[in-house]
Amino acid sequence: MKVNHTFRWLPPNIKGENMNEVESVRVTTAVDNNVWKEGLASSWGLSFYVEAFTGNKKHIVLMDTSGSFQIFFRNASKLGLNLSKIEAILISHWHGDHCGALSQVLSLLKPQTMIYVPSENSFGLGEIRGAGGIPWICHKPIEFVDGMMSTGEVPSGLSEHSLLINIKNKGLVILVGCSHPGIINILKRAQKVSGIDKIHAVIGGFHISSVGEGMRVGKFLRELDVKLVSPCHCTSNDAKQEIAKILGERCVNNGSGKIISID
Ligand SMILES: [Fe+2]
Repeated sequence: MKVNHTFRWLPPNIKGENMNEVESVRVTTAVDNNVWKEGLASSWGLSFYVEAFTGNKKHIVLMDTSGSFQIFFRNASKLGLNLSKIEAILISHWHGDHCGALSQVLSLLKPQTMIYVPSENSFGLGEIRGAGGIPWICHKPIEFVDGMMSTGEVPSGLSEHSLLINIKNKGLVILVGCSHPGIINILKRAQKVSGIDKIHAVIGGFHISSVGEGMRVGKFLRELDVKLVSPCHCTSNDAKQEIAKILGERCVNNGSGKIISID
């Protein structure tokens, strides 16, 4: 089977005009620690079903799988997500709450689906190959689907990368898994590797717990004039509330079943 992917290596000084644009994106939270839509389930972990649209073209990428295949599958079915159309999976980092359901999810996808991972992990890579997927280690940034890019491995004690989507006339939508390298570092890295300063939205786990951390991150996001912020997963309620205090309506709640559309 032909793998329908165009690989373009991007040096860290890449300029924005080299990153493709999409017209709109829809991010559906398949699994989060909290429930947004009645009837769905929660589990400590994260999974986003990401659809990017340009004209009549649509790309579907899954970011993280959560740790529970049962909950992922149940929620995906109730949400009507077409899993067979997933072209690629980006695994933010090798923690079970983000990649634990990977091999079971892979068994539902086309053979030779590309799996973008942040670093070497012999168990994880073996699992991917065993389930018929092809791992790609994102030491460096890569635009793996038109308009969708991995930040590449962000240097920190724990290897993690994030997903960038370049929306026409708006700027970057940034999806983060657990933000172990620090959410502020990730945002700076996103701007550097994409060459795009404008950040439109930031969605995912911010890995902060205190009011003080929430305040620091909230102020940083306000300075960047980010229009939509949706902290979830490993962001404490205290930190979320503080960010919401600073950003007001720009901060939106998340949870299993939440759909965020940006166009
Ligand atoms: Fe996590």
